[in-house]
Amino acid sequence: MADSLRAAVTGMGSYVPARIMTNADFEKILDTTDEWITQRTGIKERRIRTDGESTLTMATEASRQALAEANVAAADLDLIIVATITPELPFPATACLLQSELGAGNIPAFDLSAACSGFIYALTVGDQFIRTGTYKKILVVGVDVMSHFADYTDRGNCILFGDGAGAAVLEASTDERGIAYTVLAADGGGAGFIHAPAGGTRLPTTHQTLDEGLQFIKMQGRDVYRFAVEKMQWLLGDCMAQCNLTPDDVDMVIPHQVNMRIICSAVEKYNFPMEKVYINIDKYGNTSAASVPLALKEAMANGKVGPGSTVLLIAFGAGLTWAGAVLKL
Ligand code: UT7
Repeated sequence: MADSLRAAVTGMGSYVPARIMTNADFEKILDTTDEWITQRTGIKERRIRTDGESTLTMATEASRQALAEANVAAADLDLIIVATITPELPFPATACLLQSELGAGNIPAFDLSAACSGFIYALTVGDQFIRTGTYKKILVVGVDVMSHFADYTDRGNCILFGDGAGAAVLEASTDERGIAYTVLAADGGGAGFIHAPAGGTRLPTTHQTLDEGLQFIKMQGRDVYRFAVEKMQWLLGDCMAQCNLTPDDVDMVIPHQVNMRIICSAVEKYNFPMEKVYINIDKYGNTSAASVPLALKEAMANGKVGPGSTVLLIAFGAGLTWAGAVLKL
């Protein structure tokens, strides 16, 4: 019965570059301190790609791991979705390049752009195809090379971001494992709060746009902060209400690793103890679409969650976008 199908996460993979950029490294190039960055964000270090590493290489490595863990051959996949705002090329889609790299068949493959909410957006799309019985095995990837957009002369935001990739294999399941609920939202009126002004068709790249650094992230940090706290709180409340859960029923909240203060303000509203909130922002910073799958994979790998766990995924990002999911592992 198609209506009793659920999308179970049967394998996960992740990849971060080996190169570490610490707060001390920023002290050497910017007017900032380890103390300021740690207190305001919770970040101690982040991973930055080196030559030879790109959106595609990182996505490929994470995907291979996820497929191996799920024991699914690339040739048996029905669909590939890549969530990214830093694609390998302006076109074609990174998902098509990944399909070829993995040796999957001529299955549909597309990218999806929802910034830091991207992985949950992609998970939701994959879930719909499985619930309707259209596809049985789907690869969902969240990957971003945020160092590509970071202006290392702008202390107001470059300290936040890192590079990484996370991947999940979704398979049709008829037991209670799988995605129980998802919610997506966006407010394009807030597009200017965090964006890259140039490099698209509105303002194509020219020598002048490059000289002015308009290819880099411009962010109204305080506005994004307020929005983030409000939406992360709303997502937690909505996910629990829709699934009749209380904080006691939730084994782990996996929030977008955006800023320790934002995460704490969100979970405090529902009195979630911090041991039920997965944090790895100190090691990776904000990796955009990779943030949630990197945290989920790490929580699974170190035994913080496992089969039977109920997990809430919540994220917000540029767009503005926000998204949540309730997952039974
Ligand atoms: O996925 C979405 C990604 N975006 C975000 O997550 C952004 C959310 N916002 C934030 O995380 C915070 O707003 C920031 C961490 C970006 C900034 O923290 P804040 O507490 O909101 O600081 P602020 O922007 O209000 O700046 C306070 C002061 C300013 O100095 P004055 O004007 O008070 O003298 C800034 O110039 O801190 C200064 N400042 C810094 N000082 C040292 C800003 N960045 C830095 C820095 N090091 N890196």
